[in-house]
Amino acid sequence: MDFDQITTEDLFRIGGSKWSRMGDALGAFIAEMDFGLAEPIKARLHESIDLGQSGYLTPRWTQDLQTSTTDFLSGRYGWSVSPDQVHAIPDVLAGMVITMNRHISPDARVIVPTPAYMPFMTLPGAYGHELVQVPMIRAEGEWLVDFDALDAAFGEGDLLVLCNPHNPIGKVYTADELATISEIVERHHGRVFNDEIHAPLTLNGARHIPYPTVSDAAASHSITALSASKAWNLAGYKCAQLVITDGTTLQPTDLHEPATPGVLANIAAYSDGEPWLAEVITYLEGNQRLIQEMLPTVLPGVEFIPNQGTYLAWLDCTALDLPTSPAKFFLDRANVAVTDGALCGEGGRGSVRLNFATPRPVLSEILERMGASAQEQLA
Ligand SMILES: Cc1ncc(COP(=O)(O)O)c(C=O)c1O
Repeated sequence: MDFDQITTEDLFRIGGSKWSRMGDALGAFIAEMDFGLAEPIKARLHESIDLGQSGYLTPRWTQDLQTSTTDFLSGRYGWSVSPDQVHAIPDVLAGMVITMNRHISPDARVIVPTPAYMPFMTLPGAYGHELVQVPMIRAEGEWLVDFDALDAAFGEGDLLVLCNPHNPIGKVYTADELATISEIVERHHGRVFNDEIHAPLTLNGARHIPYPTVSDAAASHSITALSASKAWNLAGYKCAQLVITDGTTLQPTDLHEPATPGVLANIAAYSDGEPWLAEVITYLEGNQRLIQEMLPTVLPGVEFIPNQGTYLAWLDCTALDLPTSPAKFFLDRANVAVTDGALCGEGGRGSVRLNFATPRPVLSEILERMGASAQEQLA
């Protein structure tokens, strides 16, 4: 499909969250893509409607989800998991709640490297856990983990929330980084909620390495959450997978069932969705190059470390010295809706998260508008 041909009129008419929650602003905030659905997923969903497969989830579909997930994980990442370690849940955040409720003690703290995906800032407190932020290090052209700070932050039995690829900064962790993290966690008898929802979306040759594969310790102290929902844009279908490698299993009280169409869509994505995904990744790489090319002229001074993964660009706008938070500024003055970095914890203030999974002409207009508003402010 030629994604360039999709217009803002189309997107407003379709009316997804990104194109309806903020009035007529151009949508570049919530993590949804504007590229429609992969044909095999569409076909499977149409078939399920034609057949009336609209009831409760069946054991057969659950098993198909488990095996399509394990086949995908071994084919794409060389990660060998047994189907009975894969549990179907409605969404990744439900997996985080299950992990906090069942796999750590009530007084364990939750350690989050920041800038972080916004709910990681709020969910620990909502479930009675103290939040500890460990800012990432912004180095020349790359983000690094502050291992000393992570080690110092860890208390006995605490939970680390690892997000790889890391929303919102677009980092893909290396094997060495993951191994060092696992040593630190192990030293403190800690645990890891390992969010790999963006794993299929690696860009520019970056390679995703599942955390549980880096060592036996990493597997035994982590719970991994996955879904086809980001890479194939299926968030509304409500299906994710929890891969439990720590020797425990879900309890009946944890059983939040995913939606049947979501399970069917995830199976189709994992089994037959990779050609479409490859097209999307190539397109996203082109969009990212456009950001790199346009930024120096439209938004001089704004800093951007190119993404290794995800379709969320992290733009440090502090040099613009804007009169309000940057997201408010761009919404008020450019009618562009981006996510404010302040919502992402320490180190986020002054930055914005921009979703570039949009047709290239739309991305170009978003950047032009942001640039024009910043120029007006300077004038
Ligand atoms: C890193 C990360 N984790 C979790 C989620 C939420 O996923 P879900 O809708 O499956 O809870 C998102 C959504 O953007 C995300 O980016």
